Order: sequence, then structure tokens, then C-alpha cells
Amino acid sequence: MEQKKSSNVVWHHATVTRGRREAMNGHRSAMLWFTGLSGAGKSSLAHAVEEQLYQMGCRTFVFDGDNVRHGLCSDLGFSAKDRVENIRRVGEMGKLFLEAGVIALTAFISPFRSDREKVRSLVPHGEFLEIYCRCPLKVCEERDVKGLYKRARAGEIKDFTGISSPYEDPEDPELVVETGSLSLDESAAQVIAMLRERGILGNGGN
Ligand code: ADX
Repeated sequence: MEQKKSSNVVWHHATVTRGRREAMNGHRSAMLWFTGLSGAGKSSLAHAVEEQLYQMGCRTFVFDGDNVRHGLCSDLGFSAKDRVENIRRVGEMGKLFLEAGVIALTAFISPFRSDREKVRSLVPHGEFLEIYCRCPLKVCEERDVKGLYKRARAGEIKDFTGISSPYEDPEDPELVVETGSLSLDESAAQVIAMLRERGILGNGGN
């Protein structure tokens, strides 16, 4: 991580605190970190979970790798160094959303264990929920929704995760969802169940 360059800056404390926001919302904030190969279904699952949470009256926001790379991270590519910076920015952004009382859902390949662990360490214990969208490379490649695997195999895209750039499996994620075999509804139900078990959602669902 870059050294902090700004000196002489003093943290300003808000009177509208995270706790007050959570009380108003009727649920706790959390960071739901969806990780997995391209095509594993991270974005679809994050949005399906968000839809259900929205219907329960929760405050949510999805950060999606492809979308964030159009704006906040449009200056970054797919070298290891750029991926590290991509995940660092998203982690910091997600942390702000936690303070805002929001359930932040992030869908990034985030292939490196150390980067995911850095984000985990940014937020209070128990609020970073790593959700491994486990889908065999073979299935992702067969789906190839964006046609990128084919191009990566042909050598047209370099540093492609799973082909020419590594993906490090989570060792102890809060949840593993078998997105290669489960339906979207089944997958979303597992995530919602985890949120209930962990007390993120209030008693009656919200
Ligand atoms: S991450 O590795 O830095 O976490 P991120 O999730 O933001 O990646 O972006 C991944 C998306 O970018 C993929 O779903 C795919 O659509 C696209 N993409 C383009 N080039 C690559 C590449 N070389 N490796 C992986 N994904 C790529």
C-alpha cells in the first residue's frame, strides 16, 4: 500500500454516527465481499441478494468490478500491481459505506488472498463477510458470457485470471456458495441465511 502522503490532516468526528444510522435503518451495516473467477456469478448473486434486501427495507449498494473500472478505477489495468490498487480502493470505499450504515456488496475477482485479508483488517471484526463464489474454471469457460476466456486462450488478453494470472482460493471464507451448480435463488438464500445467523438483519428479517 502507498504511504500516506497527506500530513497535517485531522479526523473530524460526526455527530450522526454509524450507530445512529443503523438504529434508524433497523439493520447493521456489513461488507459482503463476493470473490471468485470471472463468470462465476459474483455480480448476479450480489444483485440478487441486494434485490431481496431492498425488498426487506435494507439500505444497500453493490460495487461491481466491471462498473467500478469504468470510473473510480478506470486508470487501472490487470497487472498484479493494478489489481492490488483496485481492491485497496474498493476496500476503502466499502469502509465508508459501512460508516454510512449501508450493507455494501462488492463483486470483484479479487484474486489475491493478501488483498482480501487487507480489506478484512480495515473493518471491525465480523463485518467483513467473505463469500466465495466457487465455480470450476471449466464451467466459467463454458459459460464465457463476455467471450473473454476464448480471447484469453487465443492470447489476445494477457494476465487473464484462471488462464494466465492466478486465483488464490479463500482459505476460511464466511461462506462458500457453489455457484457452478446452485440456482441463483438457492445461492441468494444461502447468503440471506448467513446474514440472519450473524445478526446483520434485525429480528423480523429487517
Ligand atoms: S480484479 O482482479 O481487479 O478484482 P475486477 O473484478 O475488478 O478484477 O474485474 C474483472 C472483470 O474485468 C472481469 O469480470 C472481466 O469482465 C474483465 N476483465 C478484463 N480483462 C481481464 C483480465 N485480464 N483478467 C480478469 N478479468 C478481466
